[in-house]
Amino acid sequence: MRLHGKVAVITGAASGQGAAAARRFTEEGASVALLDWDGEQGAAMERELVDAGRTAAFYQLDISDEQAVADTIAAVHQRFGHLDVLFNNAGIGYSSNDTYTMTSVLNTPVAHWRKILEINLDGAANVTRHVLPVMIASGGGSIINNSSINAIVGMPGADAYTASKGGLVALTRVWAVDYGRKNVRVNCICPGSIRTPMMADAIKTPEDEAHFSNNLLGRMGTPEEIADIALFFASDESSYLTGVILPADGGWTAQ
Ligand SMILES: NC(=O)c1ccc[n+]([C@@H]2O[C@H](COP(=O)([O-])OP(=O)(O)OC[C@H]3O[C@@H](n4cnc5c(N)ncnc54)[C@H](O)[C@@H]3O)[C@@H](O)[C@H]2O)c1
Repeated sequence: MRLHGKVAVITGAASGQGAAAARRFTEEGASVALLDWDGEQGAAMERELVDAGRTAAFYQLDISDEQAVADTIAAVHQRFGHLDVLFNNAGIGYSSNDTYTMTSVLNTPVAHWRKILEINLDGAANVTRHVLPVMIASGGGSIINNSSINAIVGMPGADAYTASKGGLVALTRVWAVDYGRKNVRVNCICPGSIRTPMMADAIKTPEDEAHFSNNLLGRMGTPEEIADIALFFASDESSYLTGVILPADGGWTAQ
């Protein structure tokens, strides 16, 4: 039980990597607050975990709405009493291309550019702003940001997304600097291609599949593999790690 007695806030917990983390964290003894704007899938996730005898509560919100975040974290704090882990995971990518254009700076409408940053970057900052004081009052904790290899190497075609993920890498370092002495560790995962609903729209042909599997291991990653890394950063096994930016990409960025 690597997270026995811990309370974890997971954003984007209704799907993909966040859902996998919710399963993994609760398996290891954590109580989890599941934050997501998808009411149906979020409620289903809560049901799945509670039916399995775990402690989980779903909160529906848009993390880019600062007031909604403030109210939600206050409710989570009231319910659980302390907060020890935050997985800043929620984000939009290819799967939201119908709503927000994921392309180069030249072709991204300004309103879409802003919205992508508001969700992927400001959203994580909003949640952190409200979780941190509680975490510090709880004696410290672990924050894990879910960025992307787009923040490490130049990947054409999703510039606002890339900017948001680069921002998360930079914030990881400055939060690690600012809150290390408060016993808050801040680390960052940079996933490569992970098989989740977010990637579904981008993989339509065998050529797409081959493109996203073009790494040293020759395959895409699974949400469970990212959840295991998040678990490591959340647990005391990584107690001497902070400010780490970890690519989790089957070796893509090593090529
Ligand atoms: N799948 C990949 O290949 C990949 C690669 C690198 C990074 N990532 C990052 O991993 C994270 C998780 O993505 P995933 O692959 O599990 O995708 P996913 O689409 O399965 O999950 C994302 C979740 O975030 C939620 N969400 C999105 N915007 C929200 C908002 N404004 N407020 C509340 N909830 C919101 C969605 O409803 C969804 O449940 C994202 O930040 C993504 O950018 C994914």
